[in-house]
Amino acid sequence: MSESGTDYGGRGTRDASIVNPRGGGRLRAAHRTGGPAPQVADAPFLEGRAMTGGYGKGPDILHDCTVSVNAGEIAVIVGPNGAGKSTAMKAIFGMLDLREGAVILDGRDITALSPQDRVAAGMGFVPQTSNIFTSLSVEENLEMGAFIRRDDIRPTMEQVYDLFPILREKRRQMAGELSGGQRQQVAVGRALMTRPKVLMLDEPTAGVSPIVMDELFDRIIEVARTGLPVLMVEQNARQALEIADRGYVLVQGRNGFSGTGQELLADPEVRKSFLGG
Ligand SMILES: Nc1ncnc2c1ncn2[C@@H]1O[C@H](COP(=O)(O)OP(=O)(O)O)[C@@H](O)[C@H]1O
Ligand SMILES: [Mg+2]
Repeated sequence: MSESGTDYGGRGTRDASIVNPRGGGRLRAAHRTGGPAPQVADAPFLEGRAMTGGYGKGPDILHDCTVSVNAGEIAVIVGPNGAGKSTAMKAIFGMLDLREGAVILDGRDITALSPQDRVAAGMGFVPQTSNIFTSLSVEENLEMGAFIRRDDIRPTMEQVYDLFPILREKRRQMAGELSGGQRQQVAVGRALMTRPKVLMLDEPTAGVSPIVMDELFDRIIEVARTGLPVLMVEQNARQALEIADRGYVLVQGRNGFSGTGQELLADPEVRKSFLGG
């Protein structure tokens, strides 16, 4: 099988249902409708810049690694197992101390912030593992997601249920009883509950069937269409690059290749080494 058969094109229309009104989507929207060029034209909305560091006193895992996502776009990080993809995501979220480099969110250097303060600053992060509370109901998971909010969370919950209708149906059920794909929807929904300005997903399609993967990608595209930039790690490299505005291939903690998703898909070296030919 050389073609996925799925057309992910046409990401033109953007509404503002889930995105934080102060979020990253507006720059791009202004851009697209031919308004005045934004001040920070093409500056990334979120950037892990020249990151070097590892876990505790251990060896460096990341070496001068840069990944970013622009306003209104989807950026995808791919690469072999152990390349440091999750480590890069954790570094951007503030879960490890960088020896060198910086994390910039919407023009602000947030390198010194704790993960919790990064959530308050607008980051929504779905980690690769332990990303839901299995012994809580679906709805309780969503409520936990909104822990930093003091305003009415119901409208956001309704938006999450509109995005993932199966979660509305199963809202009283324990999250641990759901299928893999449904759990991933809970995890993404939980992250959306803070009304983030940028969404970071580490392998949102891990362990699901190809059909469920396609569905999840469709929902992620839908989220991105609302103007919310998405930075995600994916094992399904080919399919992920098809929906990516920008892609990164990480190799041993370093930037191997980067470009638009289409450029990477067309690159003979990337195809041979990372996409199975
Ligand atoms: N919590 C941790 N403590 C120490 N080393 C870790 C930890 N998590 C990952 N590593 C190491 O970091 C490297 C990159 O891992 P990871 O970022 O999980 O790769 P990927 O997500 O690309 O598969 C691996 O060598 C792994 O053993
Ligand atoms: Mg990983």
